[in-house]
Amino acid sequence: MRFSENFIQEVVDRTDIEELIGRYVELKRSGANLVGRCPFHSEKTPSFSVSPTKKMFFCFGCHAGGTVITFVQKAENLDFPDAVEYLANRAGLPLPKESEQNYGNTGVSRKRVLEMNLEAAKFFRACLFDSQLGAEGMKYFHEDRGLSVATVKHFGLGFAPNSFNLLTDHMHRLGYTDEELIAACLCGKSQKTGRAYDYFRNRVMFPIIDPSGNVVAFGGRVMDDSKPKYLNSADTPAFKKSKQLFALNFAKNCCAEKMILCEGYMDVIALHAAGFEYAVATLGTAITPEHARIFSKYTQKVIISYDSDDAGQNAANKAMKILGEVGMDVRVLKLSGAKDPDEYIKQFGAEKFRQVLEQSKTGFDHKSERILSKYDLSVGSDKIKASGEICALIAEYWSAVEREVYLSQASTLLGLPVEVLKNSVEQIRRKQARAYEAKQSREAQASVKNFGDRINPDAAKDPRAASAEETVLGLLLIFEEYRNSVDSGETELTEVDFVTDFHRRVFAAIMRMHRSEGGLRHELFGMEFSPDEMGRIEKTEVARQQLSKNGPEVFRSAVRVLKDARKQESVKSGSLDERIAYLREKQAKLHKGKADQK
Ligand code: CTP
Ligand code: MN
Repeated sequence: MRFSENFIQEVVDRTDIEELIGRYVELKRSGANLVGRCPFHSEKTPSFSVSPTKKMFFCFGCHAGGTVITFVQKAENLDFPDAVEYLANRAGLPLPKESEQNYGNTGVSRKRVLEMNLEAAKFFRACLFDSQLGAEGMKYFHEDRGLSVATVKHFGLGFAPNSFNLLTDHMHRLGYTDEELIAACLCGKSQKTGRAYDYFRNRVMFPIIDPSGNVVAFGGRVMDDSKPKYLNSADTPAFKKSKQLFALNFAKNCCAEKMILCEGYMDVIALHAAGFEYAVATLGTAITPEHARIFSKYTQKVIISYDSDDAGQNAANKAMKILGEVGMDVRVLKLSGAKDPDEYIKQFGAEKFRQVLEQSKTGFDHKSERILSKYDLSVGSDKIKASGEICALIAEYWSAVEREVYLSQASTLLGLPVEVLKNSVEQIRRKQARAYEAKQSREAQASVKNFGDRINPDAAKDPRAASAEETVLGLLLIFEEYRNSVDSGETELTEVDFVTDFHRRVFAAIMRMHRSEGGLRHELFGMEFSPDEMGRIEKTEVARQQLSKNGPEVFRSAVRVLKDARKQESVKSGSLDERIAYLREKQAKLHKGKADQK
């Protein structure tokens, strides 16, 4: 481990959990806690809770939970030491010396990658504006793509010269090593020599800037038809493609009630230049739920403006679904006469685009139009197919009002009575409901048996013991008295009494910390437990806290269940003599109980 326990505790002490999580989630006060929409799964009603006093978070929906370190691990996709370092940097805590030299797997921190990226962005820009080196790049932006110098500067565009070492040499002079440059994905690593070489060559460069203004990655485009058209930074300690939107750094300040989502860098740049500064794009990937949650942080309404070909329209349907799931008002643009927003604006101008934007369609209109365009309604068999697809579409809406509205629209479109369509929709919904119930009951049965419990797979072997273990651990986590009682031997409980491996590890960690100087500190669990396991530990504690009966009798009886489970376990595997002795003892106990009653 790179960091001492003291350092980890100091980092946690210096982190304001409300401020940290507040940057990802809009939190509202609710009693002693703060609540908001969980950043780790899609939800419309808030089930994510933060306790400022305990410095812990927990989601009642997806059971993510843990400390500020766990939060950063999950939100920024970092391992435990990297998350500690991330928080230390935020808190302005200097890192212990040796940890700076010996950094994790890649050997390079997020901060260092961001520094390198900034230097590289300056380098690419200087090259573009160099009359010799950058002539071809400038000509491409200017003449081929029609960008003004102001736009080029605004987006910090650049040019990577046709060379294997210009950037590498420049970065070496600034003190960056081959390993660092490779980790930042600014350089590739030569198979032959193992040395670094310029990754982006002979391309116009688009820096990708996060909402805090950091250059997190680059995209580079060729200036002709060669392949690959775009080359993008791979994921680095500072960049995860599925979590970034191009130009969000500008769009977020635009104070628009809406944002436009397009497919490409050039679409976004053309839109901004035409005055639509609330346009963003994903980075060569389909939109993810993570993107959807980012949108929901900044805006209410997203207008999807993808390419007009089939691939673009299919992608738009998927994007609609993902954005709809976080409660976003989603509209879709269908541009005709041009393949994408960039071309459309060039061809028809900004004013025409504004008009189209105002007529953007709701998801239903867009999808139903696409369905109808496939069929000829004057042909009976086509009409039947079209009705089937439109009814299936309407059946997807949860709100009865929405279904009514779309049914009446569909009736006009198809020329069929509303009642007929309504019957068909309800039939589809009943069928789906049955399938859903069947799935639910299968899942419920599986969870009764603790089947498929990834975190504690042993629980399936003895659910009763596993649940008693949860009681014991929950109480130990919350109340020091119980820890003292185990420690002093007043309660006889040791690791061997645990049936499941995961709970045994948690128990060992609790007692080890209890006996150590600093006492029980949740952040130290993170040293040996994964974020998922942290969530389970937090769930065990939260579940216990919600119960009113947490007295010594609850603790004692749960411990008794464990002792009994262990005895049965050893008897099952023991000799015949042991088994007989166990049965005798049990019978004696029963007799005694009866005698006591008399
Ligand atoms: N893209 C990529 N890698 C490729 C092709 C595309 O990462 N080989 C990503 C880029 O982010 C690009 C987006 O997908 O901006 C859309 O691709 P495409 O429609 O092909 O590019 P355009 O943005 O239209 O590019 P241009 O107008 O420059 O041709
Ligand atoms: Mn294009």
